[in-house]
Amino acid sequence: MAKRTHSGNNSSNSAEPRVHQRGREIQAFNTVTHAFHLELEEPVRLEMTEKLNQLLADSMTLRDLYKKAHWQVMGPTFYQLHLLYDKHFGEQVEIVDTIAERIQLLGGLAIAMAHDVAETAQIKRPPRGREEIPVVISRLLDAHQVIIRQCREIADRADKLGDHGTNDMVVSDVLRTNELQSWFISEHLVETPLVHANVPAMKAAD
Ligand SMILES: [Fe+2]
Repeated sequence: MAKRTHSGNNSSNSAEPRVHQRGREIQAFNTVTHAFHLELEEPVRLEMTEKLNQLLADSMTLRDLYKKAHWQVMGPTFYQLHLLYDKHFGEQVEIVDTIAERIQLLGGLAIAMAHDVAETAQIKRPPRGREEIPVVISRLLDAHQVIIRQCREIADRADKLGDHGTNDMVVSDVLRTNELQSWFISEHLVETPLVHANVPAMKAAD
């Protein structure tokens, strides 16, 4: 009789961890569970979860754009931008979790992995290398614009379909935070003198 081992599926020791397990998916992506308690029809929840996954992918992309900016910033405004970028990164982390959990509670599945995010996001990819501050801020503003546009579309649609919870989350948590963040960074692109004020030209003597 073959000797039994203490590893793999032949283990006779019930305390042995069953590692390297695989199995079938128990819910396919782009499907929703019944969630009858929400009193929202399945087609509504399907449409909302699909749109929210788009918003999620772009929010994850913006979150990571902020970390790239936080790490790669340089120059005389290094310190303030380094801190501001990381503050916005942290707020986007919270937004990402809020959107993902909304998708799950609607019975759907939130995308999570970087390769799925990269395939889904509408925000343009930045280069791996370092760029000048005005370019970095312009990219961040473009990314906010993509998200703000999606927020308004989803909020409108959610309102029409009676999904007031999604409407409220998208407006209160995602839209308002993105509007505020884009204001904070856009002000850095205004050309203002730091030492010498712009003096108007003197009027010619009469
Ligand atoms: Fe840091």
